[in-house]
Amino acid sequence: MLWVLGIAAAVLFFYYFLYKPQLYWKEKNVSQGPPVPILGDNWKNVLGQEAMMEMLKRIYNRHKNDRYAGFYQTTMPSLMIRDPELIKQITIKDFDHFVDHRLFAPENVEPIWTKNLFSLKGDTWRDMRATLSPTFTASKMRSMFVLMEKSGQQYVDFYLKQNKNVIELELKDSFTRFANDVIANCAFGVKVDSLKEPENEFYMKGKAATNFSGFVKQMKFLLSMMSPKLSACLGLSIFESNVTQFFQSLIHDTVKMREEQNIIRPDMINLLMEARKGRLHYEESTEKQDAGFATVEESDIGKVGVNQKLAMTESDMAAQVLIFFFAGFETISTMMSFMCYELALHPEIQEKLHQEIDLTYKNNNGKLTYDVLNKMKYMDMVISESMRKNPAAVMTDRICTKAYTIQPELPHETPLKVNVGDLIIIPVVGIHNDEKLYPNPDKFDPERFSDENKDLIKPYTYLPFGVGPRNCIGSRFALMECKTLIFHILSNFELTVIEKTTVPMKISKKSLNPAIEGGCWVGFKRRENLVR
Ligand code: HEM
Ligand SMILES: *[C@@H]1O[C@H](CO)[C@@H](O)[C@H](O)[C@H]1NC(C)=O
Ligand SMILES: *[C@@H]1O[C@H](CO)[C@@H](O)[C@H](O)[C@H]1NC(C)=O
Ligand SMILES: *[C@@H]1O[C@H](CO)[C@@H](O)[C@H](O)[C@H]1NC(C)=O
Repeated sequence: MLWVLGIAAAVLFFYYFLYKPQLYWKEKNVSQGPPVPILGDNWKNVLGQEAMMEMLKRIYNRHKNDRYAGFYQTTMPSLMIRDPELIKQITIKDFDHFVDHRLFAPENVEPIWTKNLFSLKGDTWRDMRATLSPTFTASKMRSMFVLMEKSGQQYVDFYLKQNKNVIELELKDSFTRFANDVIANCAFGVKVDSLKEPENEFYMKGKAATNFSGFVKQMKFLLSMMSPKLSACLGLSIFESNVTQFFQSLIHDTVKMREEQNIIRPDMINLLMEARKGRLHYEESTEKQDAGFATVEESDIGKVGVNQKLAMTESDMAAQVLIFFFAGFETISTMMSFMCYELALHPEIQEKLHQEIDLTYKNNNGKLTYDVLNKMKYMDMVISESMRKNPAAVMTDRICTKAYTIQPELPHETPLKVNVGDLIIIPVVGIHNDEKLYPNPDKFDPERFSDENKDLIKPYTYLPFGVGPRNCIGSRFALMECKTLIFHILSNFELTVIEKTTVPMKISKKSLNPAIEGGCWVGFKRRENLVR
């Protein structure tokens, strides 16, 4: 008798918790593929057999005739938005219904991991965004440029000293070290040189904090995504306590020292300290030349200025600095690796960029400034195209915060009710590689972003930094950093394909972030006979 009950319970459990959730979209008349029971559409990704990028492209292309489609991350229903107008509707026009991002850390961990801008929700997010956005305006970037420029110089000096004809480099590692030094300097006010001192504490802690590989961590991560509550009950933390401790006390000590000794430095800690005192205001940029085509505009929510009621605590500050670090550590090095890989494979494009850089160098007597950098048109085209083809953020998301109905437009659609808590996915990499939007999408072609051609790009189909009020607050910072380093590298070196370079490009199936299989190997060849 008991075993009958047992089986019945098992069947019911299977039906309600594992099978039924994967009918969520179908029951709402939304197209969906055949998800694997329990494992959903991302099972290959979970098992390291398909890169996230490939998965998104596959699902995006599976539904060519739909404006939106359903898929399942294990049993979690996700709605992929394919249509540019619908993306605009959700992320801008009806933003009020889709305010939040999905949490990337479980809610039970220390506030330093959850009170950051990316994870904050609703009105708390609004206040914090308004408080932080003045930190990232063009004028603040101009003063921070000085710090970045030094790191760029330090980077090439390191390789120039190795008197070799061709230096063989794994760029992801090399650039992660550079990005680490920049963000350490610009966000934390800490000076490190991770090429000279490869094991410095700051770098090692950063590596540890951003390392989500290893089976145990992956499972914890997956569980916290699927069921934050269960994960919280079990008291699982994906961050080691000494890593948390390290960043917390670093901020604490820095703030204390600055206040005591009245130290003022053009960096983010300083700006946040100003913001805390309510002294920071949003300045509308009057500049014609912005940091680049890919820059995203700040919405009115970000422009209202500091909310005086918002009391930013030290732990809030620490949380923001830490998310800047996270955002700057992986994404920027990913973006620069892909770009250098493409340049090594396309000598004719590299040659054109060399010419622009040499001319700029000559015209400015080798002195690089923020404005000089932003006037380089071809540089911007190359970066824009690189982020089109291989966006570092392959997708972004929104959580429905207020019930919403997507009205039917196509004959096969019925009104779609999106419920509070539903997950929306914007498949950036799918859109960027859609042949209808970007003909011949596998071709690396900066001309797509030339003055003549860039108007052909349909609105809301180029989203390397997301879109709407919840877009990337650091887009200018990221572009400036990338351009600075590329300028320094190409002024001295030619990027070449070496034996270890994986040609054609293969995307790693195991890495959480987009990465080239076997590493991004490129040669730095000393340029001869530089005429300047
Ligand atoms: C190549 C480098 C980078 C890429 C590709 C990138 C991409 C993105 C994307 C796609 C989003 C989500 C936008 C959306 O949902 O609409 C985002 C959000 C965000 N990014 Fe970046 N990012 C980069 C660098 C940075 C840097 C350097 C910082 C900070 C210094 C930064 C800080 C943030 C923050 C705080 C958010 C959350 C914003 C909010 O929720 O209000 N990012 N980023
Ligand atoms: C799905 O479509 C059918 C037929 O068009 C319709 O009767 C039904 O109400 C729709 N279901 C939902 C949830 O909209
Ligand atoms: C954190 O502490 C543990 C145990 O003391 C140690 O094994 C680990 O290497 C530390 N992690 C970092 C990043 O220092
Ligand atoms: C990440 O952590 C795992 C184990 O937790 C370790 O095996 C791996 O080497 C680490 N990766 C990096 C890049 O540090």
